[in-house]
Amino acid sequence: MDDRDALRATVEALVQPGKGLLAADESGPTIAKRFKSIGVESTDENRRAYRGLLLSTPGLGEFVSGVILYEETLAQLADDGTPLPELARRGGIVPGIKVDAGKIPLAHAPGDEITQGLDGLAKRLGGYKAQGARFAKWRAVYNVSDTLPSRLAIQANADALASYAAICQEEGVVPIVEPEVLMDGAHTLARCADVTEAVLHQVFHALHRHGVALEHMLLKPSMVVAGSEGSPAPVGEVAARTVQVLRRTVPAAVPGVFFLSGGQTTVEATAHLDAINRQGPQPWLLSFSYGRALQQTVLEAWRGRAAHTAQAQQALLKRARLNGAAARGRYDPSMES
Ligand code: 13P
Repeated sequence: MDDRDALRATVEALVQPGKGLLAADESGPTIAKRFKSIGVESTDENRRAYRGLLLSTPGLGEFVSGVILYEETLAQLADDGTPLPELARRGGIVPGIKVDAGKIPLAHAPGDEITQGLDGLAKRLGGYKAQGARFAKWRAVYNVSDTLPSRLAIQANADALASYAAICQEEGVVPIVEPEVLMDGAHTLARCADVTEAVLHQVFHALHRHGVALEHMLLKPSMVVAGSEGSPAPVGEVAARTVQVLRRTVPAAVPGVFFLSGGQTTVEATAHLDAINRQGPQPWLLSFSYGRALQQTVLEAWRGRAAHTAQAQQALLKRARLNGAAARGRYDPSMES
């Protein structure tokens, strides 16, 4: 199989009606924060046990087509010695890998950030592929205020995302391009819409300049929501503005758009995805790539206890099933109980 066939096959495996992605690629500090909230220490063994629990959830592959892993997970083994990426694959779930190296302040742009990790990326991808990863993720973040993000931050992050995506495609790895407009702050939904539109325009302009094949990439955007310090906007408004911004900026050649949850509650993230899919047929599959919105209830059920594994897996399966329904526009709040 040449690289183009590999890219096509991976896209086909990931983009499936009623299925989304599980983001389980929290970096060291982030997983430590999540574990702390349930009173669990972030040790290698606890992270291995937790992520093994997620990936061995029976039936998860019915609603989840791919999982985004963190580098250390690629090398970890389940209790029976099966590599964790292989455990996912056996469950019908394509393993992927977060490849960015996190964000730092952007020089000469106070308040803005830039994602790093391009150095040596092609070589690292070779290793990740050998460990079973078939797609990758790179996250850029944009802080929002009356003046942020600056034009410089929008352009610099677009260029980094496009460079990353081009390198991935050359290595036969499907890039997930993740520009996240952060919810933090008191900004309005309209401000979020303006920023998201400017960000996505610049991202697709850069992808074009870098020769990225849109058919062989996926987009992971944030939804258009009001800042988390204000009151939430109505679900219908979130859906309408999100779809409007995507239709204005995302070419129809992109096969799939997988939203991040970005600090929405578990139920909000499901209700929003459902309302988005009820806006009518769109050129792209619209689904989920949730971290917190899939894992919050799992962490609460697990709390570091092996005896709680089945309960925790049921919690994951429930959120995956409801988000799978939302990805078809067939979720109803009554399904929560
Ligand atoms: P959240 O859904 O928790 O935002 O995580 C998704 C993700 O992968 C962020 O990079």
